[in-house]
Amino acid sequence: MRIESPAVAARLAELGVELRQGVSLRTLTSLGIGGETDILLLRRYEGLPEAISLLKREGIPYRFLGGGTNVLVVDRELPWVMLQLPLAPATAKIEGNRAYIDAAADLGGTVTYCAKNNLGGMEGLIGVPGSIGGALRMNAGAYGTQIGTYVRAVELYRGASGRIETLRGEDIHFDYRHTSFAPDDVMLRVELELPSKPYKEIVAGIKICNEKRRNSQPLNQKSAGCIFKNPHGGSAGRMIDELQLKGYRRGGAMVSDRHANFFVNTGEASSDDMLGLIDDVRKRVRSAFGVDLENEVIVWNN
Ligand code: EPU
Repeated sequence: MRIESPAVAARLAELGVELRQGVSLRTLTSLGIGGETDILLLRRYEGLPEAISLLKREGIPYRFLGGGTNVLVVDRELPWVMLQLPLAPATAKIEGNRAYIDAAADLGGTVTYCAKNNLGGMEGLIGVPGSIGGALRMNAGAYGTQIGTYVRAVELYRGASGRIETLRGEDIHFDYRHTSFAPDDVMLRVELELPSKPYKEIVAGIKICNEKRRNSQPLNQKSAGCIFKNPHGGSAGRMIDELQLKGYRRGGAMVSDRHANFFVNTGEASSDDMLGLIDDVRKRVRSAFGVDLENEVIVWNN
């Protein structure tokens, strides 16, 4: 999708939006798959409500891209522009046990920053790629930690009202890889309440999680993390592994030979390769175990 109108481009610039034309989503997603579109980089998030109402008025469809680490984007010309906040520094404003963090901050870097201020609790999230905003939206979790546990407030753009609002933690529902945020809500800032811990203790916890992750996940390959959610009481990775599907491929898409719930782009995978592999593996698991695996990865294909 291209923004053709110079008037719209000029208004976006006034709102602090940088327009990058014809960017390939291959370069903005951890899977390295996706078609081209215009990227609207929001230099000042205060301009977001007006930018979105401008797009709505002009009939320009849009989607919001976070860190791009949990999304599979179709590799055709995309029918929407992408709004994105530029990556924020992995810092936080710390007041006692509270940390105030920009949604566009890198999750792992922020965990480390909080650790340096003797605030722990998020050790398990250290190797989870992506932004704080993406982690909030899906309640990212690993090694017994979920970010939702620590959320005290979220400042967000609400699609329903078209305004920036603040939600209290107790008014947000966080579940396993699921939250009560609406699809058109955009995370902007979060307030976390984290337990005090000595830095050394946090670092020891971080080391253990990093090692477990290094030993079990294909960290240096292009992936979107786990493809399927774990079914209640079960493990998608173990089931796929039991079917001996590690290394199983469709074109350039392959079930990781390290962790069977990671599907990797071995080089030139197309979105059809990846979608075909997901479909195929889901069918095999259904037929062998009678379990319908639900996607964890978000698929943007229309
Ligand atoms: N297993 C296998 N073969 C495999 C993979 C796993 O037998 O190929 C077995 C393991 O031996 C273990 C069990 O399955 O007994 C669970 O495996 P693991 O500890 O790797 O955890 P997981 O349930 O597969 C979840 C999250 C990960 C998170 C890890 C660590 C989901 C879908 N995945 O994986 O999150 O990093 O726990 O806490 O909840 C993600 O969200 O993208 C993600 C990678």
